[in-house]
Amino acid sequence: MTPPPLRTRLLGVAACAVLAAGLSACENDNVDPNADLIAGKKAFAQKCAACHVLARAEAKGVQGPNLDEAFRQSLKDGFGRDTIHGVVEDQILYPARVPQDSPAYMPAKLVTGKLAKDVASYVASVVARPGKDAGKLATAVQAAGGGKPVAAKDGKLALPADPNGQLAYITKEATAEPGALQIDSENAASIPHDIALEGNGVNAKGETVQDGGTSSIKVDVKAGEYAFYCTVAGHREGGMEGTLTVK
Ligand code: HEC
Repeated sequence: MTPPPLRTRLLGVAACAVLAAGLSACENDNVDPNADLIAGKKAFAQKCAACHVLARAEAKGVQGPNLDEAFRQSLKDGFGRDTIHGVVEDQILYPARVPQDSPAYMPAKLVTGKLAKDVASYVASVVARPGKDAGKLATAVQAAGGGKPVAAKDGKLALPADPNGQLAYITKEATAEPGALQIDSENAASIPHDIALEGNGVNAKGETVQDGGTSSIKVDVKAGEYAFYCTVAGHREGGMEGTLTVK
């Protein structure tokens, strides 16, 4: 599914390096010094992480290309991180215009203006870089799915999707008592999610929702362990799953 535009676009910017040979703007590695990388990382987690892998941001989305892989080769080929900054900002503002149900669909202008530059700067500074973010960047985004266990009450269990759009529910561990159970998963993010439950003969799946919708299922559970997860392609693999323990 990796589309050809990246290479084409890089060739486009490469012309800049040639024309301006000897001038630093096209050659140095200095990604925008005015950028707010913390704001950029936060926005990346909210708006981009559900569709892209970016190791430094712990992003595990698979709908779009793996950004570390996509740019590793460009870096090897000698393109500077400032060039990548330009490519990323361009992609944010002007992704390929394809129908929303196409696998190559990326929504345009998820961030704009200064924030688009901040996101592009963050991506360009960390993409394909080994290790982990340090200092304030390390704690800019709350670990998704790191929430405390949630218990069902009166036959109802609330399992909202991570409101920041990460591939996670607010918890990976839930408990309930045997009997009728309704699971409600509100999704405040703009990336679609649902809630599904499987195990012990149960196999139920709620509606796919986004932008504040709630996906619900009604099941009968008995003592044992069940898996809850999101059925949207790539989301379970990306970490959107957990365990429901009934006892
Ligand atoms: C709904 C899923 C989705 C979201 C959200 C999303 N992207 Fe994408 N992205 C894609 C897809 C699919 C492609 C491949 C199609 C294309 O290149 O236009 C892509 C391509 C890209 C590319 C080009 C990579 C290459 O190999 O050419 C970059 C850079 C990128 N996205 C960055 C971002 C950033 C930054 C955000 C957040 C502002 C974001 N994406 C949000 C799905 C998404």
